[in-house]
Amino acid sequence: MRSADEARVLDAEDAPAKINLALHVTGRRPDGYHELDSLVVFATAGDRLERLDRGPPLALAGRFAAELETLAPADNLVLKAVAALGLPPAPLRLDKRLPVASGLGGGSADAAAAIRLLARSAGAAVDPGAAARRPLAPGPLADEVRRLGADVPMCLLGRPVRAGGIGERLALLPGLPTLPLVLVNPGAAVSTPAVFARLERRDNPPLPDLPAAFADAAALAAWLAATRNDLEAPAIALEPSIATALGLLRSRGDCLAARMSGSGATVFGLFPDEPAAARAAAAIAAARPDWWVVATIAPGTVAEPAATA
Ligand code: C5P
Repeated sequence: MRSADEARVLDAEDAPAKINLALHVTGRRPDGYHELDSLVVFATAGDRLERLDRGPPLALAGRFAAELETLAPADNLVLKAVAALGLPPAPLRLDKRLPVASGLGGGSADAAAAIRLLARSAGAAVDPGAAARRPLAPGPLADEVRRLGADVPMCLLGRPVRAGGIGERLALLPGLPTLPLVLVNPGAAVSTPAVFARLERRDNPPLPDLPAAFADAAALAAWLAATRNDLEAPAIALEPSIATALGLLRSRGDCLAARMSGSGATVFGLFPDEPAAARAAAAIAAARPDWWVVATIAPGTVAEPAATA
């Protein structure tokens, strides 16, 4: 039973993990940011943000809360989003289930969840369908969102996308099946700027053409074979345990593809079905009990209802 002074949860939003299935670095802008061409999906595994009826501006809970406790409030992306977008503040609680600075866009996902949650509480519903048809049309709001972090716009959308520019130019991906995945983080945080700084080439070709649809995870894996994550080699040079994690995934006979997400250190394995992913996750977790290992899915494309004239 709830004690008299325990806060009540009024509303909540998921903050799904972002996974870069492929990430090509195609250029560098004068401001130092890199131009990317990336295929991005979102997993059901993620953080969760709750709006409470009382409490401090942001309470932290969950396995990875301690890593965030050390951040100054001004550097916390949730509080930054609230301040930057002028959203009505409310007591929030973040269940930090994703490893911090791990290539899963956790901080950006949390900021996007805060925007959705507080916009809703203010009565200004952020309609994901509308956002999908007009993915963040250029304007002051889009600029503010992008300034919070290169991954925040895609996290606000939270659907399978091809991302260009520095990650803010978003095109919805049609025809993507639901993907059974295993996420493995070897417990090392890598610095995104340090990984970008070690890149040998910054003018790689863009992603190959995408088919209209992929029949299943195996068909996607075949397409992924002609793509890369250009940040994987520099990240492994900084953190060799990333290669160990990839090796464990690839040692499973039924792993269709294994690759690092974002700037690491989390890697993903793609499997033909959910039982295969669950078996792989159990085996890897048993071999490395100190690592973060989860079986999850990335929901595929959801058909938009036909537009009425
Ligand atoms: O935008 P965000 O704060 O997430 O980026 C963190 C750092 O990652 C940037 O300061 C930059 O060094 C690097 N970065 C980049 N190109 C991108 C995204 C991030 O060089 N497209």
